[in-house]
Amino acid sequence: MRIACLGGGPAGLYFAISMKLHDPSHEMVVIERNRADDTFGWGVVLSDETLDNLAANDPVSAERIREHFAYWDDIAVVHKGVKTVSTGHGFCGIGRRQLLILLQERARELGVEMRFETDITEASIEQLRREYDLVLAADGLNSRTRQTYAEHFKPDIDVRACKFVWLGTHQTFNDAFTFIFEKTEHGWVWAHAYQFDKDTATFIVECSEATWQAFGFGEMSQQESIAICERIFAKHLDGHALMTNANHIRGSAWINFPRVLCERWSYENVVLMGDAAATAHFSIGSGSKLALESAIALANYLHSENSSEAAVARYEEDRRFEVLRLQSAARNSTEWFEQIERYLDLDPVQFNYSLLTRSQRISHENLRVRDPQWLESAERWFQSQAGNPGNARAPMFAPYQLRDMRLVNRVVVSPMAQYKAVDGCPTDWHFSHYAERAKGGAGLVYTEMTCVSPSGRITPGCPGLYAPEHEAAWKRLCDFVHTETPAKLCAQIGHSGAKGSTQLGWQEMDAPLADGNWPILAASAQPWSARNQVPKAMDRDDMDRVRDEFVSAAQMADRAGFDMIEIHAAHGYLLSSFITPLTNHRDDEYGGSLDNRLRYPLEVINAVRRVWPAHKPLSVRISANDWCGAEGITPDDAVQIAKRLRDAEVDIVDVSAGQTSTQAKPVYGRMFQTPFSDRIRNEASIATMAVGNIYQADHVNSILMAGRADLVCIARPHLADPYWLLHVAAGLGDSEVEWPAPYRAGADQLQRLAERGEGWV
Ligand SMILES: Cc1cc2nc3c(=O)[nH]c(=O)nc-3n(C[C@H](O)[C@H](O)[C@H](O)COP(=O)(O)OP(=O)(O)OC[C@H]3O[C@@H](n4cnc5c(N)ncnc54)[C@H](O)[C@@H]3O)c2cc1C
Ligand SMILES: Cc1cc2nc3c(=O)[nH]c(=O)nc-3n(C[C@H](O)[C@H](O)[C@H](O)COP(=O)(O)O)c2cc1C
Repeated sequence: MRIACLGGGPAGLYFAISMKLHDPSHEMVVIERNRADDTFGWGVVLSDETLDNLAANDPVSAERIREHFAYWDDIAVVHKGVKTVSTGHGFCGIGRRQLLILLQERARELGVEMRFETDITEASIEQLRREYDLVLAADGLNSRTRQTYAEHFKPDIDVRACKFVWLGTHQTFNDAFTFIFEKTEHGWVWAHAYQFDKDTATFIVECSEATWQAFGFGEMSQQESIAICERIFAKHLDGHALMTNANHIRGSAWINFPRVLCERWSYENVVLMGDAAATAHFSIGSGSKLALESAIALANYLHSENSSEAAVARYEEDRRFEVLRLQSAARNSTEWFEQIERYLDLDPVQFNYSLLTRSQRISHENLRVRDPQWLESAERWFQSQAGNPGNARAPMFAPYQLRDMRLVNRVVVSPMAQYKAVDGCPTDWHFSHYAERAKGGAGLVYTEMTCVSPSGRITPGCPGLYAPEHEAAWKRLCDFVHTETPAKLCAQIGHSGAKGSTQLGWQEMDAPLADGNWPILAASAQPWSARNQVPKAMDRDDMDRVRDEFVSAAQMADRAGFDMIEIHAAHGYLLSSFITPLTNHRDDEYGGSLDNRLRYPLEVINAVRRVWPAHKPLSVRISANDWCGAEGITPDDAVQIAKRLRDAEVDIVDVSAGQTSTQAKPVYGRMFQTPFSDRIRNEASIATMAVGNIYQADHVNSILMAGRADLVCIARPHLADPYWLLHVAAGLGDSEVEWPAPYRAGADQLQRLAERGEGWV
């Protein structure tokens, strides 16, 4: 084949090499605008895995690259003057210039033609397309080829918020990949530093746009801005200079990272590769890896498939998956740095943990494998913060105190409707269901939404707290749980609003009853869906009555012996219908601005707080995202809501999301609502519970240790296994967790089986 590779970076060169290795008769030409030894940037990081892939593809160049590698195992974080080091991370670095020289040398040996100092223009791309069988567009981040055929490739370029500059230094960072965070007169500035040869290290300096503006970096020459960076990081540089080699970049060398995605990677005989096709943020160091591995893949497919078209189609399909996986990790990492102000006040141990787990590729147990000692010291720190000094159990087993309520651990059985009540009265089903979960080890067990009035029920099967027999039934449960288990009980109280008078959960959820519907209330006269009843928009009398019903339910919950109550202001029910602009269209003081929309929910919360005993905690569940874009509640709004709740003496926010509109477009995934809890906890300074697709002990420990929530709610896993916590404790080898005394023989056997790696299947 005759192939022109546009761009002599890692992608273009390594693709040319790989093609020649398959078949020396291919005519390969690499066209590069720079001189052979003239390259921007300093070191790049590759993983052992990528090196193995290179060795399998071309042992000769892999060996030469390996000879020039700097290896390191540690990550050091310098924050608030404290340097924390963890190990077991396994990276290797090489100078970008060195890498390109080695690849050029290898390409030359294999007969690749290289044309340097040749700028590709739109016109020359068209000509090359006619002359060559295939044109590989490996012309980097700002690919001209991608721009030329933008209507076919459909690029989506997201310019990220932080500013960064890629510098080098002769100061050595031999022992660790080092992150340094410095507070300046204009805000935080941080560096990502790593050694890549005997006497040179990469030193990427990054900061927020606001800090960058305040320093005036944009108006400075490269040398002027370097002088400021040298001053900021003076105590880490030992008198060594910071250096630039970005002389080819016009103006200031500071840039915003563009996240590039393309809908298509090929157009007729043009194929995108490397940064031209997709970028991964430098903070996860995977750009060169993606470029090199994509080069191997396309060269392989061009020799294994029947036609070039089939090869390109397979390349696009296979590599896109890998790229999306890395881009998702890169997005998490990028966002972590963008939102860093939220974390900089954390204790250095927690800050370090948060940084190490920022991309969500590394979990709690991964860290245990990498550096068991460091993780143990972090777990000790967590336990001692929780009032358990000297203990190194996993964070999920740390106690937690809210007012006078002390929980034995951080796991919560999330509220889950059972639809088994009769006329609002909990039955034996409720007794056995909740008693089992309390025996199952979770520190806190929630009731399902318990309704404040018959018409405030969601379904005819929902329980209530509005009649003496309800109070008596709940009291029987509270007495049993308090006598027989260490668990605490929380009653979730709520009013169904526009979602009331609907079918049982396992019938047609949210659909009206076939018969026997009752009149319903909401913030505005807007039905949940076209099939549902139109609710009455509440007037002042309705508001007073419902507020008093909440108060009365709270008093019953107290007398029944509940340790905590939660007011349900999420999921589209009555209070939630006031908060979200999607369902609140009022033109009085209860509609309009967020403060107005919160006015009635806060009236209810304040009234409940006044009667709920001062020694008992109060929680509010909110939907932190309506998943309807700016039209609905956004995570930004949720932070404001949480601040108002904090001011109303709410102790903890239970951070759920969605179920407020039939138009919502939620983005599901593992721990998908946890980022909202993280934001609220660290921006509104109030305790939070995270919930939503959290199902492994590893998730729970990662969330708690990184300070993304104080408690973690586990819902569906507790339907499948009332003893979820006791079972995961056995799996983690934690034998301190308390089993009910009559079950200890079972616990002993389970723990022994777990130690031998055996289970019941
Ligand atoms: C600050 C920073 C730090 C990074 N750190 C790492 C890291 O640690 N590890 C890692 O793996 N990756 C890192 N990367 C990313 C990495 O450099 C790129 O992902 C990688 O180089 C992509 O290779 P490529 O061949 O696709 O593009 P490039 O390396 O950008 O090569 C493109 C080539 O095309 C040439 N070119 C462009 N336009 C034209 C034209 N019109 N005519 C002729 N030639 C042209 C350019 O001169 C260039 O040589 C970092 C990137 C940045 C910005
Ligand atoms: C059967 C069922 C009933 C639920 N009932 C309630 C409820 O009464 N109140 C509430 O706030 N959330 C309720 N939820 C939502 C859960 O508390 C939780 O937020 C959700 O299931 C996500 O957590 P998970 O991924 O651990 O299941 C219910 C969930 C399920 C599966």
